[in-house]
Amino acid sequence: MRILILGSGAREHALLDRLLFEQPSLEVFVGPGNAGMADHSVELDPLDAAAVCEFASARGIDLVVVGPEAPLAAGVTDALRAQGTPVFGPSRAAARLESSKNFAKEVMIAAGVPTGASVETSTIEEVEAALNAIGSPFVVKADGLAAGKGVIVTEDRQAALDHAREYLGSGSVLVEEFLAGPEVSLFVVTDGTEAYPLVPAQDFKRVGDGDTGPNTGGMGSYSPLNWLPAGFEDEVMDRIALPVIRELAARGTPFCGLLYCGLVLTSGGTKVIEFNVRFGDPETQVILPRLTSPLSELLFASATGTLASIAAPEFSPEAAVCVVLASEGYPASPKTGRPIRGLDAAAAAGAKVLHAATRLSGGEILATGGRVLSVVGTGPTIEDARGRAYDAIGKIELEGSHYRTDIARGRS
Ligand code: AMP
Ligand code: GLY
Repeated sequence: MRILILGSGAREHALLDRLLFEQPSLEVFVGPGNAGMADHSVELDPLDAAAVCEFASARGIDLVVVGPEAPLAAGVTDALRAQGTPVFGPSRAAARLESSKNFAKEVMIAAGVPTGASVETSTIEEVEAALNAIGSPFVVKADGLAAGKGVIVTEDRQAALDHAREYLGSGSVLVEEFLAGPEVSLFVVTDGTEAYPLVPAQDFKRVGDGDTGPNTGGMGSYSPLNWLPAGFEDEVMDRIALPVIRELAARGTPFCGLLYCGLVLTSGGTKVIEFNVRFGDPETQVILPRLTSPLSELLFASATGTLASIAAPEFSPEAAVCVVLASEGYPASPKTGRPIRGLDAAAAAGAKVLHAATRLSGGEILATGGRVLSVVGTGPTIEDARGRAYDAIGKIELEGSHYRTDIARGRS
């Protein structure tokens, strides 16, 4: 099988790594990839549907796996399907679950899925009224994709209003009830009819230790979550994932690919905080090392509508912890172009170093963005996995870089 992965982050590196682990001779291309995937990287703009389609037919690609959300919202999957190339990822219409927060709310309400109360607003007066009605802490979300920057959670009413003002010009804004409780990500692979959950993971979104500072794309993750109640996955499948999958099928826009359920365990039950429509980053980096059944088979079955013909994915009880190394200034204004050293020493410490924002230049590996590397430790317990990840990340040198020191701390 020949596979093309679209994207250039640590999530894509984790997918590549897993596919090659299963079948070292597998032909896998990554467009555009990064320094960590240099042997597989191809120059390809994942947003250019025509170029992706042409590459897929010219190279006889059997399966395209879309990493990030932007190509989905741009309709790249629709173009690939139209030419008969199997693709893992939803259509543009179904991807609106992530690309429009208002659409996601509307689908959840229609499907009877538990989520926070919310109001769609299009003027600052409406925002003010909604903030008054819903109360503090205030949650304000841009309707559209905003590269992880569209959401603010704050007790500062003025900051909530300023955030709303920033996005009102380009679309509507959702004011939402604050949901208190631990967050859990559960990924569900579906072909539009059949659906299988992967294992739950937790992402650490704030930049600083103790969940302080601004939200980021994710500073670390771990799995398993041994503290979750028994039957958690079944409950999420029955009350959240399957009703949404059925609702989209009934609308004539079936969802094929990965439904990322972002959940909060509130005192009033599990509620949806967001849907994404692709593998999460950095959760993927800790879920895939635990997978014991073939990933290529799972993705291909979703892409070809044949999930019912394969068994549910299986996972080992082993633990995985991912710590993200970020550039100085991340998330506000990351410094780029600095050299990264110590990668071999980090790998020798027994962790996997997945590249996110890196490029090769004159024999050096340079940082090219905010989240630079994902360092993943595995082991029989969370503490073992955590120890490996931190031993390794301590060996990496990147001037001004930072990482959280409390990922999965105290979680056994
Ligand atoms: P989102 O982009 O919707 O995932 O939001 C980013 C992060 O903001 C989430 O992972 C939560 O940590 C936080 N957040 C979003 N919505 C809420 C909410 N209604 N209540 C509490 N925290 C929220
Ligand atoms: N881990 C958050 C995301 O992938 O959107």
